[in-house]
Amino acid sequence: MISDGVIADLFPALQQEIGGHSLVYLDSAATTQKPQCVIDAITNYYERDNANIHRGVHTISQRATQAYENVRLQVAKLLHASRHEEVIFVRGATEALNLVAQAYARPRIGEGDVILITEMEHHSNIVPWQLVCEQTGASLEVVPICDDGSLDMNAYKELLSPQVALVSVAHVSNAIGTINPSGWACGSRRFGNRLRFLRNFWA
Ligand SMILES: Cc1ncc(COP(=O)(O)O)c(C=O)c1O
Repeated sequence: MISDGVIADLFPALQQEIGGHSLVYLDSAATTQKPQCVIDAITNYYERDNANIHRGVHTISQRATQAYENVRLQVAKLLHASRHEEVIFVRGATEALNLVAQAYARPRIGEGDVILITEMEHHSNIVPWQLVCEQTGASLEVVPICDDGSLDMNAYKELLSPQVALVSVAHVSNAIGTINPSGWACGSRRFGNRLRFLRNFWA
């Protein structure tokens, strides 16, 4: 297993002192620092292969397309996706959640359904569901947090009624540090083929 120190060594931005202390950076959900290999790949792209992907027949466009699609293959492998077409690149969490909410959830959700989120969600995992509720007549319910920052699992079980069509929750909260047990929202088999969506953030 690679230690945190070894991983931190890969990130040039983390090798600096601020106010006499080594930098500790906790805002990764907003902007992640980049390891040297990513900085090198981006620099290489702008120095050699800066061109449209999928829309050019010239050499550097072909190289850019190849590099872009190679990343999709690698990400699919990392995520154990059954097909690389399942991997869709977007600009960030807000765009990803709005895409899932509008393209996947909205057509499948209707009046009387419930969408369940938690009190520890960032706006990007609240507003898209508020919009879907407005558009479909579904309602939004929120799992509360206990005083120690953990999710109130008893309340969760109570709220998880057969009307719940979709659960969308953070894995890690970058605001209060809670790490929810992975799979807790996806594990339930009570609702057959209804939707469950676990949003992961690595803070
Ligand atoms: C916890 C958390 N989630 C989501 C976001 C939104 O991310 P994005 O800018 O990728 O839409 C932020 C941005 O600050 C965030 O801090």
